[in-house]
Amino acid sequence: MSTILVTGGAGYIGSHTVLALQKAGYSVVILDNLVYGHQDLVEKVLQVELVKGDVGDRALLDQIFAKYNIQAVIHFAAYAYVGESVSHPGKYYRNNLVNTLTLLEAMLQAGVKNIVFSSTCATYGVPQQIPIPENHPQNPINPYGATKLMVERLLSDFDQAYDLRSVRFRYFNAAGADPQGRLGEDHDPETHLIPLIFLTALGRRDHISIFGTDYDTPDGTCIRDYIHVSDLAQAHVQGLDYLIKGGKTEIFNLGNGSGFSVQEVIDAAKTVTGRPIKVVQENRRPGDPPVLVGSADKAREILAWKPDYSKLEIILEHAWHWHQRRHNE
Ligand SMILES: NC(=O)c1ccc[n+]([C@@H]2O[C@H](COP(=O)([O-])OP(=O)(O)OC[C@H]3O[C@@H](n4cnc5c(N)ncnc54)[C@H](O)[C@@H]3O)[C@@H](O)[C@H]2O)c1
Repeated sequence: MSTILVTGGAGYIGSHTVLALQKAGYSVVILDNLVYGHQDLVEKVLQVELVKGDVGDRALLDQIFAKYNIQAVIHFAAYAYVGESVSHPGKYYRNNLVNTLTLLEAMLQAGVKNIVFSSTCATYGVPQQIPIPENHPQNPINPYGATKLMVERLLSDFDQAYDLRSVRFRYFNAAGADPQGRLGEDHDPETHLIPLIFLTALGRRDHISIFGTDYDTPDGTCIRDYIHVSDLAQAHVQGLDYLIKGGKTEIFNLGNGSGFSVQEVIDAAKTVTGRPIKVVQENRRPGDPPVLVGSADKAREILAWKPDYSKLEIILEHAWHWHQRRHNE
């Protein structure tokens, strides 16, 4: 039986994607070094083979490709803290870029020529138009975005030289949780807005900060595009099917197509939780564009992908349910 290798499959988006792959009938092996991944969720919920190790370990990769009949790779494993990438760029270039090169070389040696890659809207930098289409110029403003853009370039060059085909998904803000509450977001440290709001509602944080209330947006706070993690996961299954059927290398934005402001998200979370959430207004952070919203029309057209959970309230309800369970409420 052919198998899909999912790097970073013990992490947030990876674990939801493994669930979607299982539902679609794929067999899966996860490679995760558990720096940020959750072994308990792999064991209790996903119940698939977990190889504990590093994507940069070439000997381990060769063993995996020799042992399993790997048909394609979905590559989530990376570091994704923008601020840390500014203070520790080498760590990001090594893990996100150098380790991906090691993975691609191991794939080539094993004759595996299909890969789905997690890129990011951070490769665009400051948007020149909204919603952002895939052909928007890419000028990342931090090392994290730069590492992802470099991998995109690497994938183009490997396609040209070796026919290694890829689907690159540029995600906007992943949010929400498995609708059945089995999986969800649990980053440590947490930097994403929605989990931070819920940790505040649960009393695990004192307050939620709004960075900037004087942007040129209707309520003065930044607008972002939140895409439900289960919709992201489903897109990976469809991207994989597309590659396996012989589709050519493609790039797709994955977003909701509409944005919500920080204030709107906090207000909706107050309704969903029925709890007070203390808010502190702070100064703008450097490098935060006022609006980041993507167009996912291309994924809708070519992959026939359609988000099932685009309503903010639904995204928040699923995330709240997960956070309550995860924190034993
Ligand atoms: N969360 C978002 O909103 C978002 C947005 C755009 C892009 N992305 C990208 O999506 C991917 C997944 O993001 P996430 O939020 O699920 O992150 P995550 O940290 O929850 O998952 C990443 C997983 O990769 C593992 N990992 C990291 N380096 C590894 C290595 N060298 N070898 C083996 N395992 C390794 C970690 O232990 C973790 O389980 C990342 O590539 C990220 O850059 C995420």
